[in-house]
Amino acid sequence: MPTTTQAREILAALRLENVRYAIRDLAVLADEVAKTGKKILPLNIGDPLKFDFATPPHMIEATHKAMRDGHNGYAPSLGVDEGIQAIAGEAERRRIRNVQSIFVTAGVSEGVELCLTSLCNTGEDVLTPAPEYPLYSAVLAKIESPINAYYLDEEKNWEPNVEEMASKITPRTRGIVVINPNNPTGAVYSRQTLEAICDLARRRNLVIFADEIYDKLILDDGVEHISLASLAPDVPVITFSGLSKPYLAPGWRIGWAICSGPKDALKPYIEGVHKLLRARLCCNAPMQYAIKPALEGPQDHVKEMNGKLRRRRDLTVKWANSTPRVSCVSPKGTFYAFPKLDIPGDDLDFVKGVLTEKQVLVVHGSGFGHKPGTKHFRIVFLPYEQTLAKAYAGMADYLREHYK
Ligand SMILES: Cc1ncc(COP(=O)(O)O)c(C=O)c1O
Repeated sequence: MPTTTQAREILAALRLENVRYAIRDLAVLADEVAKTGKKILPLNIGDPLKFDFATPPHMIEATHKAMRDGHNGYAPSLGVDEGIQAIAGEAERRRIRNVQSIFVTAGVSEGVELCLTSLCNTGEDVLTPAPEYPLYSAVLAKIESPINAYYLDEEKNWEPNVEEMASKITPRTRGIVVINPNNPTGAVYSRQTLEAICDLARRRNLVIFADEIYDKLILDDGVEHISLASLAPDVPVITFSGLSKPYLAPGWRIGWAICSGPKDALKPYIEGVHKLLRARLCCNAPMQYAIKPALEGPQDHVKEMNGKLRRRRDLTVKWANSTPRVSCVSPKGTFYAFPKLDIPGDDLDFVKGVLTEKQVLVVHGSGFGHKPGTKHFRIVFLPYEQTLAKAYAGMADYLREHYK
């Protein structure tokens, strides 16, 4: 048999065309800048462990002990009982009633993927926010669901306009994604907005996906994070959270989903999700033993983290609102800010410019699918104050040098 070489390109599936990965637009440029030996100021990485935040020792000890105790085999598909019980306790503290199922996944990311895959037939959609966290459009592209976006309203502290949301619903719409506290805007939604969303889902028979991974990162006194599911025990809600953000263990890949709402109505859907959970066997076993100590043990690190983030947020907002051509709605939670730019060119050119000339790495708002015609960039304010101050001085110089 003659040997052959395969010369033709191996094309990726067309369904991936809607997968957005904003940072990719900048990766090549960032590599070039790094090669010149200049140090990049990274205001783009949403991983607290890259900065001065550390996984609480009691969680590390619990994982280590689980390994020493021999919990190194497959775990139950829905998760180890101890962790599930602790999540049930957390659901109760968050006033979520009518809980029908709880399961542990490889981060919120896997939970989102399994839950959307179990809901949508090809061509059906769920409403997703714009700007968005790109995981959702990536999963929807994979399951061949068209993007159906509702806008977050900058004039209203980045809360969604529920009337506009309602106008986007079609007979093929199955659910609504609500990210609260929000990435990339840092908004924490009011009770009134959340109630209006619940009411809409109730009237139109939709499932709500409430991504609450930043629930404990609240930076303003007097602002309360309300779990959406607590407002509507009669509406099907899947609440996502996990150990990645307030519990400072993103590399462990532990997330969970709490399914609440009407038992009979949810039954076939939950059975579908469980089928997929069984098909992928289980998620990381030893790390699941850190869930109980995380949720029920000392919470000092959360207070400490929020203190640092508050100072970094204040520095960020003060800079943005005192710099010509920049303005910013103050984020009430998370570690993200989404300032607006008032410049003639587009925001990708701006972020490429500040990367090349000032070595500051931020992500352009158009990469998050914000409202067409607007210009933004996303800041991750996890770095030290000195790093942030240096980056902001560089961006202010860039704006002064390039725009009259
Ligand atoms: C809104 C949102 N949801 C989910 C995730 C992913 O979480 P996990 O690490 O649990 O997969 C992130 C990570 O940045 C996020 O910002």
